[in-house]
Amino acid sequence: MFGDLDVLKMATMKLLSFVACVWVFSAGHELFSSMDQAMQLVEEKRNLLEHFNSYINAEEENLQRLRRGLEILRQLPYFKDPENTTTDPVAAYKLMRQLRILWLTIITTTENNPYDDFQELLFSDVLKIPSEEDLESAALALIKLQETYKLYPVNLTKETPLTENEAYYLGLKATVEDKFQHAFHWFLYTLKMFNETKSFNSIRTFTKERLLEHLGSSAYHFGSLPVAIYFYQQLLKLDPTNEDVKSTLKLCRNLRLYRTSNPDIFTLNKESTNSYEALCRGKVKPRTSRRQSTLSCRYSTGGGNPRLILAPLKEEIEWDEPRIIRYHDIISDKEIEILKNISRPLLRRSMVGSGSGKVSNVRLSQSVFLEEDDMVYRVNQRIADATGLSMETAELLHVQNYGIGGRYETHYDAGDNQNERIATFLIYMSDVEIGGATVFPKVGVALQPKKGSAVFWYNLHKNGDLDLRTAHAGCPVLV
Ligand SMILES: *[C@@H]1O[C@H](CO)[C@@H](O)[C@H](O)[C@H]1NC(C)=O
Ligand SMILES: *[C@@H]1O[C@H](CO)[C@@H](O)[C@H](O)[C@H]1NC(C)=O
Ligand SMILES: *[C@@H]1O[C@H](CO)[C@@H](O)[C@H](O)[C@H]1NC(C)=O
Repeated sequence: MFGDLDVLKMATMKLLSFVACVWVFSAGHELFSSMDQAMQLVEEKRNLLEHFNSYINAEEENLQRLRRGLEILRQLPYFKDPENTTTDPVAAYKLMRQLRILWLTIITTTENNPYDDFQELLFSDVLKIPSEEDLESAALALIKLQETYKLYPVNLTKETPLTENEAYYLGLKATVEDKFQHAFHWFLYTLKMFNETKSFNSIRTFTKERLLEHLGSSAYHFGSLPVAIYFYQQLLKLDPTNEDVKSTLKLCRNLRLYRTSNPDIFTLNKESTNSYEALCRGKVKPRTSRRQSTLSCRYSTGGGNPRLILAPLKEEIEWDEPRIIRYHDIISDKEIEILKNISRPLLRRSMVGSGSGKVSNVRLSQSVFLEEDDMVYRVNQRIADATGLSMETAELLHVQNYGIGGRYETHYDAGDNQNERIATFLIYMSDVEIGGATVFPKVGVALQPKKGSAVFWYNLHKNGDLDLRTAHAGCPVLV
């Protein structure tokens, strides 16, 4: 999360303040879009259609103008006697002039061709059309979600079915990433759609032969030879003279004689060797009763802070070692809305298609550092009151907006040299239906996002050394 050390040039900072906003859109059960992203894409689709429509209107008007011009030119007097023109200088002058006028008129009528303007618009930054790269990262984010939460295509597409082409594309992207089991499942989904689609009005980007080949190949790479053989046989039925398929089939059969293992490609492995993924799926370590007794809730006045005496904070100890404190209702919905309003245009600037130079595993997750203003000042004051720490050397508030499958891999907020970020204060700016937890794989803690609450922990021990237990990650947002 924090490779941006140059941005945060305060090496002696005493406190890191961090606002994590997980703004997730879940209208009905709309999947995998952040609100901003989804609204903007819908907007762009409407924009593009409108521009296309205006372009067609402009072309029609232009055509009519050209036809009118042609009619006028046709009615110009012409010479019945070409012989005369070559001998009569006046006639020659008339002809030359008319020819020139004819040419000029055609130039001016065809010059304001709307086509160039339209082409220019299509490639301009005005339209924020997702790039191929954006599309790819959205596909990879979906596959990452499947891995983390062990989801089949049917789980993901319950509310929003995909077309054959859309599913096939996911299979291809999974293949490129060597995720052969997920690739296989997407190709299987595609095959099912292929069987069910009776009409031919959808234009397929692939043939059935190609699909069967992918099914065979992904099963082969996963190590499931009988399944690979089955699909290569199907392929050979469609394409009996294909020598490549024949030799692949032979290879599979030979391998099968020697290989004892046959992993089940149809079932996703629920056991995860990765504690981050297990935590994200809610496999939290049970707390021992000794530890449970140290976990408690209370109202806190920050040790008699005058600003908190009348409105004490709701403080909950979420974990003891390392100590993680949750503050409930630390920020109101209204304040969250203001912060989002301030951040939104800044987040959008580094959005799809623009070369913002920001490096992130998932490009659709966006962030911005907020400059000090009244609202930011109020939030900072509250963090100071809650934690008893001075905000003088704190970083700017960092707003984070998670997009499709947006997540952060395990990381520390501080480096292991001294004068690093002592502590982290993380505010959740939206609820998340499924996913989006902040997990600490080394201690087995999963903190669920809850709108308006914040969590707080020290990254460093009292002697200034990095507390290795504070390695944490953000789980992918599912819904
Ligand atoms: C996904 O779908 C499978 C098969 O229908 C079902 O058994 C499983 O419980 C679903 N998983 C989730 C997380 O919904
Ligand atoms: C698709 O249809 C073929 C033959 O029509 C059948 O063998 C195959 O099992 C079907 N596949 C799926 C995934 O429904
Ligand atoms: C946030 O922006 C929206 C849309 O521009 C506006 O309707 C709303 O009143 C703003 N909210 C606040 C608290 O400023």
